[in-house]
Amino acid sequence: MEEQTFAAAVVRVAYFFLPAYLANMAPVLIGGAWPALARPLDGGRMLGGRRILGDHKTWRGLLAGIAVGVLVFEAQVLLHRLGLLHRLAAVDYGSALPLLPGFLLGLGAGVGDAIKSFFKRRRDIAPGASWIGFDQLDFMAGAYLLVLPLYALPLLPTLVLLPAVFAGSLVVSATGYWLGLKEAWI
Ligand code: CTP
Ligand code: MG
Repeated sequence: MEEQTFAAAVVRVAYFFLPAYLANMAPVLIGGAWPALARPLDGGRMLGGRRILGDHKTWRGLLAGIAVGVLVFEAQVLLHRLGLLHRLAAVDYGSALPLLPGFLLGLGAGVGDAIKSFFKRRRDIAPGASWIGFDQLDFMAGAYLLVLPLYALPLLPTLVLLPAVFAGSLVVSATGYWLGLKEAWI
């Protein structure tokens, strides 16, 4: 039997965006690996006297996020094929295109994060300095929009999920700081 409650819909949307959530953590978790890829996405270029994105947005972080997005989505597909976690499915994982949904969720998370950095630089907020609200939700907005051509997730459960995403991002960030992975606690 399908669960029809609104709370169940929110949980299913959370499960759907798990690849994006973990993709957003990938740049921090990859640490100093692959130093050759640690080049800034903006190539050091400036716009109006400020960096376009800044040194904290690297190819390494973007590619790590895409890889994690693909791996986690494909793991969800595999679980579905094994007959597991069907109650958590907001979409039909059985008929999902190979690789593309995870790619779009990971890329969307990274692009959303980078666009947020673009606006931080315009507002003279230094790389790594906090921009509360935007730092925590940027990746969800990007992932939602990039995966939209494949999957139109219900908007209301997605919006209701945002406070939990916000709180979860703060906890993850503080944990990363405590573990010495991040410069700032927020
Ligand atoms: N990171 C990266 N490449 C990316 C995104 C993130 O290398 N495309 C790494 C950087 O080391 C960054 C860390 O992950 O410092 C945390 O990412 P995030 O919090 O998104 O960036 P900020 O350090 O806050 O930088 P900004 O002010 O530009 O958002
Ligand atoms: Mg940050």
